[in-house]
Amino acid sequence: MAGRVLIIGATGFIGKFIAEASLASPHPTYLLLRPGPLLPSKDPIIKAFQLKGAILIQGEMNNKNSMEKILKDYEIDIVISAIGPESLLDQLILVEAMKSRFLASEFGHDVERADPVEPGLTMYKEKRMVRRVVKESGVPYTNICCNSIASWPYYDNCHPSHLPPPLDYLHIYAHGNVKAYFVDGNDIGKFTMKVIDDDRTVNKTVHFRPSSNCFSINELASLWENKIGRTIPRVIISEDHLLAVAAENRIPQSIVASFTHDIFIKGCQVNFDIDGPDDVEISTLYPDEAFRSLEDCFEDFALMVDDKIQRGKLKLPAQKSVVEEAVPMTASCGEETPQKCSKI
Ligand SMILES: NC(=O)c1ccc[n+]([C@@H]2O[C@H](COP(=O)([O-])OP(=O)(O)OC[C@H]3O[C@@H](n4cnc5c(N)ncnc54)[C@H](OP(=O)(O)O)[C@@H]3O)[C@@H](O)[C@H]2O)c1
Repeated sequence: MAGRVLIIGATGFIGKFIAEASLASPHPTYLLLRPGPLLPSKDPIIKAFQLKGAILIQGEMNNKNSMEKILKDYEIDIVISAIGPESLLDQLILVEAMKSRFLASEFGHDVERADPVEPGLTMYKEKRMVRRVVKESGVPYTNICCNSIASWPYYDNCHPSHLPPPLDYLHIYAHGNVKAYFVDGNDIGKFTMKVIDDDRTVNKTVHFRPSSNCFSINELASLWENKIGRTIPRVIISEDHLLAVAAENRIPQSIVASFTHDIFIKGCQVNFDIDGPDDVEISTLYPDEAFRSLEDCFEDFALMVDDKIQRGKLKLPAQKSVVEEAVPMTASCGEETPQKCSKI
């Protein structure tokens, strides 16, 4: 029988994809919820999961005794944490309670190799500490480095796939040619579930690097323009601008700016080879499994835009006749429109 999976953070941005995939798998799926009433916005999500067979458990992940009891009573075999950045260190107590296999809240870059400026660096230091403690604990683990979620990589939005790509201006980071990997959220869930069933991934870091989904921001911009049949002015966001937004230390925007800098200026997703003894690439594990293409993902965004227009929630901006001159922006432009900034 498939092992019992406990998911922590199932109501979150990434956790929802994991929970959906687990519920679609043969694994009995348990969701840990914090004690107390749910936020009204989370209620329908949990109800939908229950209809699909999720078993809810109330508990605090940073209470060792309570977690030991939960893991034992429910005979949990695998714990997947997708808790948000503000609670990463709570996982240290959870690890003390664990004997089962653990996937910590990673779901991004390889935090040992990526080197963002602050405030992103603090978050990575916490993820590195969790990695170290998990490794030392002897608990079997897997780190999922799924890179970027398929979406327009806004430099100030930590949940970018909730929004379609822009219609007014496309922000291009510096020359726009550094590549990154973009993975559909459902594939993050699907491949995470494949990984937990695969002994080859025990005590490994699994990198999601589908070559078909490796795009520069210039290529993403062209894909979006082709999809909606319009050209959109491009505005260059300079390296200095990203660094200045990061230095403002507004959370979470500055964290996203620091990651954007690391991805699109320093190339943190593509500037190393996967050749360590503890590394494995997902396409090597499952060469016959395709990732959803960016073409299809951006088709979804085009439908989202169409739907908003139909419902009167969005108006297409007038098509610009002149291609916007590429201009660097200053940090103080962050809250303004790119057009305003370009006049500074
Ligand atoms: N690859 C990417 O593009 C990408 C994008 C975003 C995030 N990520 C990564 O994915 C991971 C999850 O981030 P996210 O943005 O999905 O988080 P999120 O949307 O903020 O969701 C956080 C989830 O964790 C739960 N949670 C937080 N603290 C908890 C605690 N102490 N006990 C129990 N549950 C707790 C929240 O539950 P409540 O409902 O009770 O609040 C919520 O379900 C992070 O490691 C992040 O770095 C990756």
